[in-house]
Parts: sequence; C-alpha cells; structure tokens
Amino acid sequence: MKRLMAWSGIVFLLFVIFHMYGNTHYFEGEIAYDHYAVWLRQLLQPLLPYGGFLWIMRLVLVALLLAHAGSAFHLWYRNRKARGNDKYAVKKANAEYYASRYAMRTMRWGGVILLLFLVWHILQFTTLSLTPGGEYVHGRAFQNMYYGFQLWWVYLIYLIAVCALALHAWHGVWSALQTLGLTRTRIVPYIRIIATLVALVLLIGFMAPPTAILFGWTDLPMSDTEYYPQFCEAIGSAASEFAEHCGVAAH
Ligand code: HEM
Repeated sequence: MKRLMAWSGIVFLLFVIFHMYGNTHYFEGEIAYDHYAVWLRQLLQPLLPYGGFLWIMRLVLVALLLAHAGSAFHLWYRNRKARGNDKYAVKKANAEYYASRYAMRTMRWGGVILLLFLVWHILQFTTLSLTPGGEYVHGRAFQNMYYGFQLWWVYLIYLIAVCALALHAWHGVWSALQTLGLTRTRIVPYIRIIATLVALVLLIGFMAPPTAILFGWTDLPMSDTEYYPQFCEAIGSAASEFAEHCGVAAH
C-alpha cells in the first residue's frame, strides 16, 4: 500500500510539474497559450483522434487518484483500528512522535483540500460550469483564466490549493523516497534539498500567471474579431475543430 502511494504520488508529481510548466506559456500571449491547449489535444494524432491523448491522460489521472487516495485511506483506517481503545494514550511523547503526527495530519488535510480544489478546478476550467469573473468559452483558456483571476477570492482559492500542494509535495517526496528505501543511503541531504526545490518551484511556477493577471501585468484578452483570424491561422489543420469560428468544414 505504501509503495502504491509512493509510485502514484511520483507520477502525480510529474503531472503537476508538466501542468505548471504548461501554464507558464501564459506569458507568451493569448494565441500561444490557446495553441498550447490545442497542441495537447493533437498529441499522437492520427494514431488517436483529436483530444484522444487528453482523454487517456484523464483516465490515468483518475486511476492514480483512486490508488493514491484509496491507499491513504486504507493505511489511516488500519492504523486507527490497530490503536483501538488505546488511541488517546500517548506512549512516545517525544519531539519525533509529535513531528511525525503533525506531518501525517498535514498530509491528510492537504489531501482533502486538494481533492476539493480539484472538483472546483474542473468545474471552472474544464466543464465551465462555474464561471466567476465573466463569460467563459471552451477553447479560450487564456481568456477564461484572465476573467477568473480578476477576482481576489478566486486567486485566494488557488493560493490555498497551491500552498497545500507545495507542502504535500515537500513531505511526499521525502516519504516516497523513504518508502522506496532511498533514505538509508548517503543521498539523504540531497533529498531534503530536492524536496524543498520541488515545493518552491511548484509554488512560484503555478502562482506566477494568476499573480500577474491579478495585478494587471499580462495582455488583455482580444475581441473575437481580432482573436479568431490569428488563432485559426496558428492552429492550422486543427481549425476544423473550431469550424464555427474558423470558417472551415468540420470533419
Ligand atoms: C494556479 C494554479 C493552476 C492554474 C492557473 C490551472 C489552470 C488550468 C487550466 C486553464 C486548465 C484547462 C486547460 C485546458 O482546457 O486545456 C487546467 C486543467 C487541469 N488542471 Fe489545472 N491549474 C492550476 C493548478 C492545478 C493543480 C494544482 C492541479 C492538480 C492538483 C491541477 C489539475 C488539473 C487537471 C487534472 C486538469 C485537466 C482537467 C481536464 O481537462 O480533464 N491544476 N488547469
């Protein structure tokens, strides 16, 4: 169970680093950012249909989530049952005991915050069911993000979630490598440095675009008449997916 948690956590970490890096395309402007979203859906074409890669990634992420959260729940439940009536008795009331108990609680609450955030996040940017700040449009990720992060409370939701993610990743990197036996080797001091770096990069990288939007440091979204000719030209063969706006026959 611990190994499952460690491996699923490591793959999750690769996903969030990839996602964070993807989001930094925001600074290249509206066409570049939305083109990146199209590119993600074009991956492995024509082997897969348009959007096929994204669907595979979604399925893998859901499987990982079930494995990761499921094993966390199982370990917590087993631990609780094992403690039985003894659960209020503090046997090893030393600093190490409190530190590990504190870390476990932080991980648990961090996990719950991230799960709740993910529901909000998907409703906001994938299904567009919640559209704070303006009228969101499928495919116009740059504009949707721009609208959302005009609002301080949307920014705050992301700040809390990303802090929870950084903390979760910081402790997670350490726990995973311990589970996989690497903390018995001489690389221990480097693991601490790597874990801290990963957490800081996630925090700064994820929060950079929302911060720039909130403070008005990015370009404004374009009007439809300015946007679509440039977008359609940039995405080339994928324009048929946007037939309505790009004036080409849908396949
Ligand atoms: C400041 C932080 C973040 C921003 C601005 C952001 C922005 C976005 C946007 C705009 C999309 C839609 C992309 C598209 O339709 O092509 C997206 C998708 C997604 N994000 Fe984030 N994201 C952030 C943090 C996170 C975090 C921390 C996680 C995971 C813990 C996450 C998980 C996802 C997932 C799983 C999807 C794909 C959903 C789907 O289409 O099925 N995001 N994100």
